[in-house]
Amino acid sequence: MRIILVGYGVVGKGVTTIIARRYAEKVKGYGFNPKIVAIADIDGAVINPRGLSPQKLEEIKQRGYPISKDPDFGRPGIPALDVIESVEAEVVVEVTPVNIKNAEPALSHITKAFKTGKHVVTTNKGPLALAMPALTELAEYNNVYLRFSGTVGGGTPMLEFAKRCLAGDRILAIRGILNGTTNYILTEMSQNGVGFQEALANAQKLGYAEREPSMDIDGCDTACKVVILSNWIMNQKITLKDVDRTGIRNVSLEALDEAAKRGNTIKLIGSIDEGKPTVKPTEIPKNHPLCVSGVLNAITFSTEYAAEQTLIGRGAGGIETASAVLRDLLDIRHKLANRMLNNNSES
Ligand SMILES: NC(=O)c1ccc[n+]([C@@H]2O[C@H](COP(=O)([O-])OP(=O)(O)OC[C@H]3O[C@@H](n4cnc5c(N)ncnc54)[C@H](OP(=O)(O)O)[C@@H]3O)[C@@H](O)[C@H]2O)c1
Repeated sequence: MRIILVGYGVVGKGVTTIIARRYAEKVKGYGFNPKIVAIADIDGAVINPRGLSPQKLEEIKQRGYPISKDPDFGRPGIPALDVIESVEAEVVVEVTPVNIKNAEPALSHITKAFKTGKHVVTTNKGPLALAMPALTELAEYNNVYLRFSGTVGGGTPMLEFAKRCLAGDRILAIRGILNGTTNYILTEMSQNGVGFQEALANAQKLGYAEREPSMDIDGCDTACKVVILSNWIMNQKITLKDVDRTGIRNVSLEALDEAAKRGNTIKLIGSIDEGKPTVKPTEIPKNHPLCVSGVLNAITFSTEYAAEQTLIGRGAGGIETASAVLRDLLDIRHKLANRMLNNNSES
């Protein structure tokens, strides 16, 4: 499987690392032979149809140069769109920064990949939050796969658990703590009596929160994940504007104290209940499995037959999220193998 990697940051490097580390095992166990033939970054690209050496690229990056400075295969200045169009590959892995205003540059990268017959794996929530119904339709029209398991729960397989393990049941509602930054802030406030501003500053010092933290604390990141869960798991074709969203700026220490007296705490919950997609600070019992601390994420699926099922795990991290990318690549590999078998049996 030839892969074009677009974006060589935290997740992109995780992808090259995990493919290199698990290469032998996957080739042996799954007949899966991944080869990264191009990596496009903001400054240009490196292209080698025979496969690239991530170790050499890492050394270039560590010396402070863009990867396109690679003396053998570097192509300074070539835009990612040209790489996607011109390089022969089966899959594009899109891991550029999220943008919830217009989803660019990822939206153009993904649509270009589809139009040139390439499958896409992405961890970027932007295009899905703003245009998921249109993108899934476009993928289908072009007869390619779109996979995005790293967008919800990082490496924790929340989407797969719901889609595959609960396939025999009916999911009635979903509730989740889907953002580690806000969970860290609320945990600090409730467990250590720290005010909102101080907890936010601590999160920023520890690298959990961006300097511009609005995406997290105003609930946008959680809302993006609710959109993805809605479309993919509940089959409701919505976009970001359909989510009723409140962030955590106004959660006070007094409100947390009052909740504690009732054996509860306040968490930022993303939910889909009776079809309604919502993000808001919500009181939940401290002894509920969903009530996780720190940067952990958790999700509860309420089902018709198996009652409540809760999954807990790290919601982010470069290598964790890269493991979700590898999971998606294996899924595509499996689907392509099935396609080939079906075609052979028809012919
Ligand atoms: N990190 C996580 O734990 C995590 C977890 C789940 C999902 N995600 C999502 O995964 C995506 C990648 O995250 P990340 O943490 O790896 O971000 P990152 O470290 O900021 O890396 C993004 C990379 O994309 C490059 N880039 C920016 N614009 C580009 C363009 N027009 N064409 C080609 N490359 C471009 C950046 O280059 P420069 O550095 O030169 O600007 C950088 O190498 C984001 O959408 C994020 O929300 C991340």
